[in-house]
Amino acid sequence: KRPPASILFIFGGSGDLNYRKLTPALYNLFLDEWMPEQFAIAGLGRSPYTDDDYHKHLLEGISKFSRRKGEQNGHWKDFSSHVSYLQMDAEDPAAYSKITDFVTGKEEEWGVHPTVIFYLAVAPQLVPNIATRLGELNLCSDKHCTRIVVEKPFGHDLQSAHELNELLAKKFTEEQIYRIDHYLGKETIQNILAFRFANALFEPVWNRNYIDNIQITAAESVGLEGRGGYYERAGALRDMVQNHILQIMCILAMEAPVSFDANEVRNKKVDVLNAIRRITPEKVHEYAVRGQYSSGWMKGDKVVGYREEKGVDPKSNVETYAAVKFFIDNWRWQGVPIYVRTGKYMHQKATNIIITFKEAPPYSFPIEAAQTWRPNRLTISIQPEMDIRIRFQAKRPGQTMTLDPVDMTFNYDAASGEHAPEAYETLLLDVMEGDATLFMRGDQVDAAWKVIMPILETWENRTPQDFPNYAPDSWGPDDADALVARDGHTWINLPTK
Ligand code: BG6
Repeated sequence: KRPPASILFIFGGSGDLNYRKLTPALYNLFLDEWMPEQFAIAGLGRSPYTDDDYHKHLLEGISKFSRRKGEQNGHWKDFSSHVSYLQMDAEDPAAYSKITDFVTGKEEEWGVHPTVIFYLAVAPQLVPNIATRLGELNLCSDKHCTRIVVEKPFGHDLQSAHELNELLAKKFTEEQIYRIDHYLGKETIQNILAFRFANALFEPVWNRNYIDNIQITAAESVGLEGRGGYYERAGALRDMVQNHILQIMCILAMEAPVSFDANEVRNKKVDVLNAIRRITPEKVHEYAVRGQYSSGWMKGDKVVGYREEKGVDPKSNVETYAAVKFFIDNWRWQGVPIYVRTGKYMHQKATNIIITFKEAPPYSFPIEAAQTWRPNRLTISIQPEMDIRIRFQAKRPGQTMTLDPVDMTFNYDAASGEHAPEAYETLLLDVMEGDATLFMRGDQVDAAWKVIMPILETWENRTPQDFPNYAPDSWGPDDADALVARDGHTWINLPTK
């Protein structure tokens, strides 16, 4: 069933996110016949564009970034007839009448009251002003017909996130606010819910009695991609851990929801965040490691060090790598370390979760068999590979009782075919349908900031002496190896295919 009539206003309509992600996603939804029967998309921005030039610009983005390049041309004319460009300065209060006029025009044309969605794909400092003005527009008597989508970063720290939540709450109800974390829209991340809660096999062992430790890796082989200015105010912990990685942890560790109602799922996730052990400032060095890349070589290309990047302070102490050991202090997870790591210019792009189970006692087997004895391991590869692998021990064919670890693999990519939707497709459709399950609620964002604040503050107060401390195309600083080695582990780097 298609969503009801909708108008989407994209602030930052001439910007990068819209060019690379939003319009390609909306166009794919259109091709898959998920867009409403009646819809309009208005890109808002300061750059001057005619509608025609704007369409050309967007089509170029689609041909570069859409998952189904080449298929675009046939339906583009039809799709683009729904897309306009409104030149406006979001800082100018008078400009907002363009939005009201646009909505009134569509209401008259369509004869219905559409859902009005404001997507704020803009720099974080512009969000408060835009949100305030939009909240004052009074577009419809029923408040629920308008929705506001806010991109990450949601705040810069606990206090600013809290202030932003308060500001939004003055103008919008919580049901109207969609805080995006695009990782939640990824197919393989949603599949964790299916894997955990639609199978009876794994839930009984999904706890401290059977699980020894968990590793979550979100390694990127790219650098800053021209976002030096943004990254200088962020760093790896804010950019990836506070949101994407903690969200993965929540889905992995939460209790079973009684339904997929947005608040039910989010309540269960907040419980996880609230149970994560707070790391005290004196202990930060035992639990967290940071790194910054030097200049070097990345797959044959020379790359500059972080401190030489455009928009970056030559003495910058911002981390481009972070690894943290977390514990979730509740009945299910007491004592199970969860090691997470993320970094730029890492040896390969790989997002995965590796769950290592406790070893089975080897007593029944001959001593030689114990040499290849490995604990069971469940690997959930999120990207670029999309699979779930279970490692178990099997007998090597032959006359002796020799054991080998083998993998049983489910390949998500192959099973879902080439049309697996991209994260932004899923999330934009959810906004049009009014389903907030995959979006972050205000208290969830606060709870996530509370988890990382002690690390952030300690790092900000203590200047690292050894930056830069890892080479591009590596797996990060040596200290990160020491973090897991202290507990008798090593980071598991999956082989590339
Ligand atoms: C974004 C970060 O949220 O996620 C980027 O700001 C990062 O720095 C990106 O590169 C990674 O997303 P994905 O989907 O490529 O893993």
